[in-house]
Amino acid sequence: MEHNIFTAKNYTDPAIFDLEMRKIFSQCWHFAGLVEDLSKNNHYLTVLAGYNNLVIVRNDHGQLNAFHNRCRHRGMKILEGSGEISHSHLSCPYHDWAYNWQGELKGLPQEKAQFKGLDKACLSLKPAKVSIWRGMLWVHPDQDATSLEDYFSGMPEHLAPYCVEELIEAKDEIFEVVITANWKLVVENYIDHYHLSQLHRGTLNMYDHKSAQFGFCGDHYYFWEPLSEEFRSNLATNSALPLLMDKNSPQLGTFVPMLFPSFGLAESESSWSIYQILPLEVNKTRVIIRNKVKNTSSLNFLSQAARSAKFWTSRIKPKDNSYPNKHPLGSADFMQEDIYVCEQLQKSLISPYFEFGPSAAHGEAPIRGFQERVLRWLNDG
Ligand code: FES
Ligand SMILES: [Fe+2]
Repeated sequence: MEHNIFTAKNYTDPAIFDLEMRKIFSQCWHFAGLVEDLSKNNHYLTVLAGYNNLVIVRNDHGQLNAFHNRCRHRGMKILEGSGEISHSHLSCPYHDWAYNWQGELKGLPQEKAQFKGLDKACLSLKPAKVSIWRGMLWVHPDQDATSLEDYFSGMPEHLAPYCVEELIEAKDEIFEVVITANWKLVVENYIDHYHLSQLHRGTLNMYDHKSAQFGFCGDHYYFWEPLSEEFRSNLATNSALPLLMDKNSPQLGTFVPMLFPSFGLAESESSWSIYQILPLEVNKTRVIIRNKVKNTSSLNFLSQAARSAKFWTSRIKPKDNSYPNKHPLGSADFMQEDIYVCEQLQKSLISPYFEFGPSAAHGEAPIRGFQERVLRWLNDG
């Protein structure tokens, strides 16, 4: 009989959360945005990477640089959010230490009188590492980190056969939510194959879960499943969006990996989505979802939606009609179903009577595999 490796404490103890921030999230690559979020020269964007606030700059030659967004004097955050570089120097708002866009300290108030003999060359902003992968910007707090290609080595063959850079973002569909649950519960729910046919019986039934192929490639989880026979047999009509994959492709289906530690992708036959899981506190997690679709006319989207409406109206249902439609389990929305489950599990974990039951040998193997990897990072990192 298989069992979870974690105990309840792993999801509720602030000391374990602190360790994860230091040993995992301060030592891995982080999604920082889509390449088009920082496409213009002389712009920047800031990123929270565990406990580290980082800034990525695209300079006037188009090169990308990344730094820790913390002043070398007392540690004040220098830049906010994202935007255009409007001054020749970066100025810290606290005591006005000034850095150039290479992160070098260039000047400070009353330097001669107050900081005699100061070697400014030793006080550049701490460098971080930035790289691009599949149309996304990634950043690592350590300048000497392993390359992004090595970090994701082996994963490209487990991903959709289309070019993400050619897709366009559906900007009105950016979804952001704070879930009252530990980040690992959100990850585990994402990679739990066992729940797909049960919790999402009425909402994710366009795929053939029984034929799913999944496993780990290094620390990253890969997952692929084909379309259900009914969906596939009349796909040109049934697809809600213009297709991104050839309807005869052997890879036709959806690729749903979870890149360690907490970045999900959903690369389907007609849309590409990111599912960014950001730990905020031991029992609080932000999720951001962004979607890209085919770069085609609005008319194509409208006519595809009209063609497919009948299929979806008959197909998508609440899990159980006994729930009112205001209840997450009556919502016919798979995100609401998942959020509800994660929040309910977090509540259970604090009960002194709680204990994990047995774990499904095949369908929950991804959860145990993820837990093993978290523990290894905590012990090795
Ligand atoms: S903390 Fe930045 S100038 Fe003092
Ligand atoms: Fe789910």
